[in-house]
Amino acid sequence: MEHDWRNSTVIYQIYPRSFSDSNGDGIGDIRGIIENLDYLQDLGVETLWISPMYPSPQRDFGYDISDFRGIDPTFGTMDDFGTLASEVHRRNMKLLLDMVLNHTSDSHPWFKESRSSKDNPKRDWYVWRGGAKRPNNWQSMVHGSGWHFDNRTESWYWASFLPFQPDLNWRNPEVHAYMTDTLRFWLDRGADGFRLDIFDAVLEDASLRNNPFAFKIIPDLSRGYGMFQKTVYNRHIPENFALAQEIRKIAEPRKKLLIGEVFGTSDILRAYCGTSKPDGLNLVFQFQCLTSPVTSSSYRKLIQEAEAWFPPPFTPTWVFGNHDRRRSIEQCRGRRDPEKLRTLFRLTVRGVPCIYYGEEIGMGQQNIPIHTSQDAVAQLLMKRYPSFAVSLIDRLMHGAVNRDSCRTPMQWNSSSNAGFCSSDAEPWLPVPDSPEETTVEAQQQDPDSLLNCHRALLQLRNRLSPLKHGTLTLLDTPDPVLGYIREKDGQTAAMLLNFSDAPSRVSLDQYSIPKKLVYSTAGKRNSPEDEITLAPWEGTVFFS
Ligand code: GLC
Repeated sequence: MEHDWRNSTVIYQIYPRSFSDSNGDGIGDIRGIIENLDYLQDLGVETLWISPMYPSPQRDFGYDISDFRGIDPTFGTMDDFGTLASEVHRRNMKLLLDMVLNHTSDSHPWFKESRSSKDNPKRDWYVWRGGAKRPNNWQSMVHGSGWHFDNRTESWYWASFLPFQPDLNWRNPEVHAYMTDTLRFWLDRGADGFRLDIFDAVLEDASLRNNPFAFKIIPDLSRGYGMFQKTVYNRHIPENFALAQEIRKIAEPRKKLLIGEVFGTSDILRAYCGTSKPDGLNLVFQFQCLTSPVTSSSYRKLIQEAEAWFPPPFTPTWVFGNHDRRRSIEQCRGRRDPEKLRTLFRLTVRGVPCIYYGEEIGMGQQNIPIHTSQDAVAQLLMKRYPSFAVSLIDRLMHGAVNRDSCRTPMQWNSSSNAGFCSSDAEPWLPVPDSPEETTVEAQQQDPDSLLNCHRALLQLRNRLSPLKHGTLTLLDTPDPVLGYIREKDGQTAAMLLNFSDAPSRVSLDQYSIPKKLVYSTAGKRNSPEDEITLAPWEGTVFFS
């Protein structure tokens, strides 16, 4: 049986502003991506997801779109996009675009028209209500009410995210048709699928009912709570699940991939992919790794949860970072060995791993002072609270407020501006003065680098079919060792991971682990006999 690429691929996220600048304006662009495709191919990633590049005023750096069917001149042209798609495909890789179905920029011509008068033909393209009071108690995902008063027509418009990102009204058939046609438009031009931005918020309750009260002070989107309310009427409403099924029908005949950004508990995430069979989104991001303590017991639980909710033919995803959250290596307080162990975990468990640019070299959070942040989320909160409070909220929200800190330029080499842009250009966000070993160039030379750990494991994943397509069984190894087996067509790969600062001994016979050691994060070592003593934070792969 032929394998479906969508269940076994490896996704690499490029934040285009920050990846590589080809024209010296200090902002990354499509040509810059093209110039580095060989690097990505050699690394072994298979699918590139690129954050939005459509025309936009860039107030939320592309997530505020003013034309869904073009390319912003900051990033290049439609021709550049065509070249990118063909160069990606020439390397047998895939290309995902980031599609923001939920909202537009307030500078989109549609919104300008819509807000101009109550009888404008585009009025109903957004969610408007009149009245002196806010239409209901719904909150934005960022802060406070998501209803904003517009003086011109003395009405409120709804925005799930920032005030300049008004929600489209998907109940309007013209909106529905235009947006679904936009998916076809990009599929026709070489996209292999989409990452769907805040997909759980696309539709909201038709009669705008108030969310019920809940005793919850700190909002927790992933469990479905705003401040003092449960977000039942503006997130995850039945029509959203139906939309997932509808767009699957658009993507399915061409075997295109849909991966949703949805925030919720595992049962809800799974429902976006289908209940009895996979007929919704192919994948949803699972964000638990971003916050789980780095211990064997919590990583065992992550596997148990993924296997329980996403058993084959469903597929879990493994996300360690993205452009909205604290960088992965911070979860290990910047330590390389635990990060290598986590890399081995993510590339050998069942599912689709997602790698955020720079994660492969262990780029950390940069210290961007909150008062200089270019992130509109930070700027909005800074208008309302003192900076120490905003920094605290940022910490509590795992970096989701001052997102500049995880979006700094890719560190290619140790030249000035880290090779991201020419030395006489000014990068849009600062690069560290001396990135030292946290550069691609330095790590290429070092066989024990985090970069080479990624490369070796990605090669192994391609070579050993159980790692890519096999079932997963957890072993009952005692903490701090996590063990699991992947099996496919009579072949077995077994992983033993030591989540500890001390060595740990494991009997191979007791767990029927094949004796042939094919990879260790601790460097070259011989295959053991009956038992293995794992070094601190060592992860190993065995195969037969
Ligand atoms: C998503 C994006 C984020 C963006 C927001 C609004 O969460 O990942 O970067 O700001 O949606 O589109």
